Amino acid sequence: MAGIEGAGEVVAVGVGVTGLEPGARIVGVAIAGGAFAEYIVLPAVAVVPLPAGWADEQALGLVVSWSTALAALKPLGGLAAGQTVLIHAAAGGTGQAAVKLAKHYGATVIAAASPGKHEVVRALGADHVIDSRGGDIVAEVLALTGGAGADLVLESVGGTALEAGLAAAKRVTGRVVVYGLAGGEAAITDWDLVYKHQMHLIGLNIGVLAQAVPQVFGEVMGEMFRLLAAGVLGPGQPATYELAEGPRALPELETRATVGKLALLP
Ligand SMILES: NC(=O)c1ccc[n+]([C@@H]2O[C@H](COP(=O)([O-])OP(=O)(O)OC[C@H]3O[C@@H](n4cnc5c(N)ncnc54)[C@H](OP(=O)(O)O)[C@@H]3O)[C@@H](O)[C@H]2O)c1
Repeated sequence: MAGIEGAGEVVAVGVGVTGLEPGARIVGVAIAGGAFAEYIVLPAVAVVPLPAGWADEQALGLVVSWSTALAALKPLGGLAAGQTVLIHAAAGGTGQAAVKLAKHYGATVIAAASPGKHEVVRALGADHVIDSRGGDIVAEVLALTGGAGADLVLESVGGTALEAGLAAAKRVTGRVVVYGLAGGEAAITDWDLVYKHQMHLIGLNIGVLAQAVPQVFGEVMGEMFRLLAAGVLGPGQPATYELAEGPRALPELETRATVGKLALLP
């Protein structure tokens, strides 16, 4: 969702807030939005310190996109070294983090992206790249996995991609983590799960995860900061726009023209 993540300097803190002072530089998320602005009100529990030496915009993704990728791969997706993961929208803000993390954890990565973005995902370490616009994703994943299917599928596209993700997952032990529906809603029935796609179907909303199982979110963020310290994840390189150019950035998202994160500079 656009406009929920913001980074910058704390100008004031609410009554009862501890551990945060005006002047601190943070990145955080407001689920109801508000980041298309010079000032944003963020819940104190939803901010983390900006890594030292990073520009504000370089940290965009840390609390939403990167944590979603990490949660999808590890606590929810149970990815282990040697397994194969299919990552939809691999050149996007969340997808790029997922490719880097999955390679770090020793997985074989099959990345789906529009043709003009293939070099980006290859450079991140993807082992195989599939055309998300014209390719037959199921046939290609089955061919690349000797007919077995992927151990894990990260599904954020929705529409017909949901069905493709289910069909591309390994029978019985495969997991499909669904966290987005940029391409529209799709339905799946109990018949599908019993007779057609026998695998683990897992829904992920990082905001709900943080509220419902804060210990899991804490572990995800703890792992994230370890990976930052180890240099596995570095500063993001978002495409930047002046705040007033926001109306130009949104159609680019809609037409799938973007690569990675977009940042509006206040
Ligand atoms: N549940 C959560 O907690 C959570 C957290 C973060 C993000 N998300 C969701 O995850 C998805 C990815 O987030 P992101 O920040 O990585 O987005 P992004 O950078 O904008 O990436 C979106 C990419 O999805 C692909 N796509 C395929 N079909 C599409 C369609 N019909 N319409 C639009 N895009 C399509 C496009 O890549 P190609 O053209 O290369 O195929 C597009 O560039 C979004 O749907 C977002 O809402 C959910």
